[in-house]
Amino acid sequence: MASPFRPEVLKGKVALITGGGSGIGFEIATQFGLHGAAVAIMGRRKHIVEAAQAALQAQGIQAIGLEGDVRRREDAARVLEAAVKHFGRLDILVNGAAGNFLASPEELSPNGFRTVLDIDAVGTYTMSHEALKYLKAGAGGRAPSDGGLILNISATLHYTAAWYQINVSAAKAAVDSITRGLALEWGTDYNIRVNGIAPGPIAGTPGMRKLAPEEMRRRVREDMPFFRLGEKWDIAMAAIYLASDAGKYVNGATFVVDGGHWLSQPRM
Ligand code: HXC
Repeated sequence: MASPFRPEVLKGKVALITGGGSGIGFEIATQFGLHGAAVAIMGRRKHIVEAAQAALQAQGIQAIGLEGDVRRREDAARVLEAAVKHFGRLDILVNGAAGNFLASPEELSPNGFRTVLDIDAVGTYTMSHEALKYLKAGAGGRAPSDGGLILNISATLHYTAAWYQINVSAAKAAVDSITRGLALEWGTDYNIRVNGIAPGPIAGTPGMRKLAPEEMRRRVREDMPFFRLGEKWDIAMAAIYLASDAGKYVNGATFVVDGGHWLSQPRM
């Protein structure tokens, strides 16, 4: 679908997207690039990051792929430094890296619980913490009143409760709390906006493949009137809105982009 935004709406901006090698993260990287931004993508798997870099460059996008694990503070610092060295500044950090698998609490070990919190919640905090010096108002040639943006990819599971995803639910609840906390403190001190996007079920993502096998999806479709798959594009368009001046007064918000899915109920 054609973008409703002008192609140069993010011109001059530099974005780092964790988990940018695949799924929603890759679509955000692509759309940011097609709207004028230079993009660095960070991921754990070298071959995926390299393939994503090549695919972005083939579309004429200024892009680099950097290998790293958001759970490691030294990786976070190294990747951020490399991105800023390459492009000269950083305006947008998208925390898209996430881990998940289906497991009942009875089967899920404390380490399995911790692993997902480490990736999603501590990883989001670590990347944000290490990015602060680049995102502060005035850094990287921005105006003294002009800070960067942090965009956290969340979920809606924790608004109610979700079967077999207690670790992801707890992790995303923490992510939303980080969004609000940093929006308050860094919005006040550094003019940095911190927002989130909570996608619904999105077609063609690793999350859908792992968390909603086809037989489960069929059942959900019958029970939930609002059930309909979104596209990665829908999430990327929300990200562009938040990253552009159109979203300049939005801070501390997590946008639910799910077609109404999470509040869906069977008809009485
Ligand atoms: C039960 C499991 C398990 C499973 C791992 N564990 N997989 N337990 N069922 N299927 C447990 C392990 O037994 C271990 O605990 C602990 O978790 C750590 O496992 P490792 O394999 O050592 O971890 P690691 O190699 O770091 O891999 C992390 C991972 C990985 C999360 C398990 O598989 C991963 O990142 N995959 C997901 C990537 C992905 O699909 N991202 C897209 C996210 S989409 P013990 O006790 O044995 O040591 C998304 C959408 C969310 O997030 C919202 C949807 C609506």
